[in-house]
Amino acid sequence: MDHFLYHNGVLHAEDVPLSEIAEAVGTPFYCYSTATLTRHFRLFDEALAGMDHLVCYAMKAASNQAILKTLAALGAGMDVVSGGEYARAKAAGVPGERIVFSGVGKTRDEMRQALIGGIRQFNVESEPEMVALNAVALELGVRAPITIRVNPDVDAKTHAKIATGKSENKFGIPIARAREVYAQAAALPGLEVIGIDVHIGSQLTELAPFRLAYEKVAELTQVLRADGHDIRRLDLGGGLGIPYTRSNEAPPLPTEYGALIREVLGHLGCEIEIEPGRLIAGNAGILVARVIYVKSGEGRDFLILDAAMNDLIRPAMYDAHHDIVPLVEAAPGVEQQPYDVVGPVCESGDTFAKGRMLPPLAEGDLVAFRSAGAYGAVMSSEYNTRPLVPEVLVHGRDFAVIRSRPTFDEMINRDTIPEWL
Ligand code: LLP
Repeated sequence: MDHFLYHNGVLHAEDVPLSEIAEAVGTPFYCYSTATLTRHFRLFDEALAGMDHLVCYAMKAASNQAILKTLAALGAGMDVVSGGEYARAKAAGVPGERIVFSGVGKTRDEMRQALIGGIRQFNVESEPEMVALNAVALELGVRAPITIRVNPDVDAKTHAKIATGKSENKFGIPIARAREVYAQAAALPGLEVIGIDVHIGSQLTELAPFRLAYEKVAELTQVLRADGHDIRRLDLGGGLGIPYTRSNEAPPLPTEYGALIREVLGHLGCEIEIEPGRLIAGNAGILVARVIYVKSGEGRDFLILDAAMNDLIRPAMYDAHHDIVPLVEAAPGVEQQPYDVVGPVCESGDTFAKGRMLPPLAEGDLVAFRSAGAYGAVMSSEYNTRPLVPEVLVHGRDFAVIRSRPTFDEMINRDTIPEWL
């Protein structure tokens, strides 16, 4: 459930008509709902109630400071994957002890930054990374708390570009070699081995792959404890999928996911961490765009919008589906017609949808892409020198611009001219 609903025929974000924001901010823009972010975070938090746990929001999904502050105020930890994300989490007031550092290619500078600024744990993904982190920690005279990410060789049954738990993927160490790698880690004085980490992919729409992976983690916990490791924390990654269409089957709910965790891992007495991103932010955000032209092509009509692939890359990159709805609700009984929905960027990949059934639309009309809150604004670029789309956060009847649209001069002035020119 989200808070983007029609009232009196106009799509609202909570209590604000989106047309009002469009007028104030211009299009395109991203808009997030505080109530939806809050609701989604709480669903996870409550699903793990009674277990020692921390929900670490995977901020790669949407990392605006205002979004981070909203979640941090609810008690969220953060899962970061770069020095930039670490700095963003700290700037939003998240204490180091609530930040976990994931990622397959952490640099020594990033390790230093997190060890100095404070860190809950590093999720280490390889032996060379272990060696580097050990060296950095010793140099600073500290011990780095770590889990090791294991690759359970489980098929997440999701899009190939976002599956991470198969042996052919670059992530984690093969679970079959875990005992050997944990023994190596335990011998490094700059590291403190505290747990196990696993993440098998994103947009999972079934619980079965989670169950398979978590059963392997449960077994490994016992084996590693028998080897003498003090395994006391399990980081179970993110990945729970969201409904991208109103009609399709609903993916499992956080409550069902929480029940699975309790069932498979609850008896181990470990602290549980999860790293959801998409489910918290995805349906808490939309992208609003305006129709520039309706162009009649050979046997098809193109709806040319002022948003493009640089603003929302998911359809071009993953063939992702985003529901598109008019801001002004069509009158009952109006017949829908097929449109190819495209942006102004100069390549055919700049296509959001083909043959999408929509009520008749005209120049100047406003539309919204639903489910665009996760991996939307964060993956945008200035391709074609198109300014990054502003972000707006709604809270009841209030709204605020939380990232403004850069001017052309601001974009151009980031370039510098060498002295020979
Ligand atoms: N933890 C780790 C280690 C991850 O790699 C990811 C996502 C998450 C947590 C959060 O997963 P989520 O709960 O959001 O599924 N750009 C793609 C998604 C990439 C996901 C990358 N890793 C998309 O637009 O679909």
